[in-house]
Amino acid sequence: MNSPRKRLYIQEVSVRDGFQIEPAFVPTLDKIALINALSTTGISKIEVTSFTSPKAIPSLADAEAVMRGIKRNPDVEYTALVPNVRGCERALTCGVDEINLVMSASRSHNLANLRMDNEASLAQFGEIAKLASPHIKINASLSTAFGCPFDGEIAPSRVLDFISRFVDIGIGRVTLCDTTGMANPQQVEALCSAAVARWPGIQLTAHFHDTRGMGLANALAALGAGVVHFDASLGGLGGCPFAPGASGNVCTEDLVHMFEAMGLNTGVDLEALLACSRMLPALVGHDVPGQVVKAGPWNRRYALPEAAR
Ligand code: COA
Ligand code: ZN
Repeated sequence: MNSPRKRLYIQEVSVRDGFQIEPAFVPTLDKIALINALSTTGISKIEVTSFTSPKAIPSLADAEAVMRGIKRNPDVEYTALVPNVRGCERALTCGVDEINLVMSASRSHNLANLRMDNEASLAQFGEIAKLASPHIKINASLSTAFGCPFDGEIAPSRVLDFISRFVDIGIGRVTLCDTTGMANPQQVEALCSAAVARWPGIQLTAHFHDTRGMGLANALAALGAGVVHFDASLGGLGGCPFAPGASGNVCTEDLVHMFEAMGLNTGVDLEALLACSRMLPALVGHDVPGQVVKAGPWNRRYALPEAAR
């Protein structure tokens, strides 16, 4: 008898991490149509938007309209990025399934991105945990967990200390984010293994950017460390506007393609995902980095040229 294929969970961030850095505003109805299409692909979670200051992130200024306008699939979790208590209050009015809190492991990126220090972010997290639970799930995303474009290397002990602070607040879901693609597979394996060993009960997500071409290798390293939840972005869009040199996330369809080719079960219909990806260039007005949508899946075959027959 065949053993069941290992189940992985793919979490789509293009409509938040991707659209937040796009120079052109993607119209609200187009965002909604894309999210509705993504909702039917087998993706387990979609980060719909962010409830941030519209001055900081103008491209997601329509957060309420998008969150309220989408058609909800009960098999999909709908989450939204929240930087502070004000953002949490806004998210709660829209019935999100999960609040994705954000802060950075480094002091400098926290200041540049959120205009507060790490302790101030943790204080906001504490207030939000009281405000939101038990009605709603809370995830904490830790940016620059594998390196900061301002501060450089981040000690693994510093990352583990932040996770410990999240757990103390009662947060049971944590995402380690490689904001500007500084992580390497060896580092990912070591840090994720340490986190999984110390907190086997938390839901740990790996969030990689492909800025230096190590995104898929890092995802494999995280898988090897026991991670089964992965953030990824359709077409490979993405990047933090407050991190110099930031570029796109690991591409969702390329990640799904790799895992499925390896015989793992992502739960995602690759063809349906590729159909969503084909919508992107028209939505954002430029070509996108994803590769499988151009090359076709590994099992694509071509007719032998006439001359070779
Ligand atoms: N939603 C909407 N507006 C908000 C808000 C929120 N969550 N939080 C603050 N604001 C508004 C305030 O009302 C104020 O508006 P005003 O200028 O019209 O009076 C303005 O934003 C500034 O408020 P302040 O509390 O001084 O915030 P700040 O300027 O120090 O900015 C953040 C702090 C966190 C709100 C802002 O830096 C931010 O939204 N960052 C998001 C970064 C991000 O998403 N990065 C990419 C993802 S990693
Ligand atoms: Zn990101």
